[in-house]
Amino acid sequence: MADIILGIESSCDDTSAAVIRDRVLLSNVIASQDVHRAYGGVVPELASRAHEQNIVPVVSEALSRAGIKASELTAIAFTRGPGLLGSLLVGTSFAKALGLALDIPIVMVNHLQGHVLANFVRQEAVPVREPSFPYLCLLVSGGNSQIVKVNSPLDFEILGQTIDDAVGEAFDKCSKMMGLGYPGGPVIDRLAKQGDPNRFSFAKPHIPGLDYSFSGVKTSLLYFVRDEMAKDPEFMEKNKEDICASFQKTLIDILLDKLVKAARQTGIREITIGGGVSANSGLRQRISEEGESRGWNVYLPEFKFTTDNAAMIAIAGYFHYLAGERCPLDIAPVSRIADF
Ligand code: KG4
Repeated sequence: MADIILGIESSCDDTSAAVIRDRVLLSNVIASQDVHRAYGGVVPELASRAHEQNIVPVVSEALSRAGIKASELTAIAFTRGPGLLGSLLVGTSFAKALGLALDIPIVMVNHLQGHVLANFVRQEAVPVREPSFPYLCLLVSGGNSQIVKVNSPLDFEILGQTIDDAVGEAFDKCSKMMGLGYPGGPVIDRLAKQGDPNRFSFAKPHIPGLDYSFSGVKTSLLYFVRDEMAKDPEFMEKNKEDICASFQKTLIDILLDKLVKAARQTGIREITIGGGVSANSGLRQRISEEGESRGWNVYLPEFKFTTDNAAMIAIAGYFHYLAGERCPLDIAPVSRIADF
């Protein structure tokens, strides 16, 4: 008999529910929260209130689009963390209550593992193209920048990670500083397409091993803009496309430099990316080009699976469910990965 899993994601500012039958996606509903835009960043209290309002309609919609009755579900997979605690509490409590009411198991998922496994979500009309194990995943989001070695759907090794800001944070903070709005990644990505990536240069970090650092490049942009604006107050407005293109190129150079090193050190040529920043068109192009020249097999997730979504939680939960993992009803969400 097929396993039908309901996935629930509520770690930050997207309330999402998805249904998969075995590995095939039947529905994936995402309610994003625009309320944070006015504040230039996610406001935790507003996020948890919005999850409270969204969770029931989002789950109902996911079941109805999938053509599945709640009574047909085999298990419920939910994001336990990392993320905002108030947001995680909504999805976790909902999963526990529904699991209890339906008398079916619940399975906890690490949000980051969801991103890392996003390429395994199968869609009926899309040809299957999945990385083979072991593969490397460049996991880049608003909260993380990591190179993960994925040995199996349940076995992950972090080879390198940021020692300060995440790359998504660098996009967001710099966009805010330049008055371009939030979230910054998509805005910088769009402006960068019209600019010259080689016009300006920004300081790159010198961190040993496979770890990242993005706070220095952020400060470098800050000082650069401040100094230029002192000479010409219209500098930013006149040059924003070139600044965005050059800044984005610097971030991509930093990301690729360590990824190439990791591939060389491990001898792994199966390469994926995941997380919100993996939607970046410059990064996708560069990684594809690098892959071609280095003989990598590169797997890029579809855009709808790059940002937070429950389809990736359902698929990660499916693997945990198959492995026999079950979660007790007194489970609590955790905000940090170290608590997992
Ligand atoms: O994975 P995600 O949706 O949320 C978490 O951090 O968990 O990632 C959000 C991040 C934000 O920093 C946003 O600016 C960035 O992903 N982002 C992008 C793009 N789209 C979203 N960064 C660069 N280019 C994009 N096109």
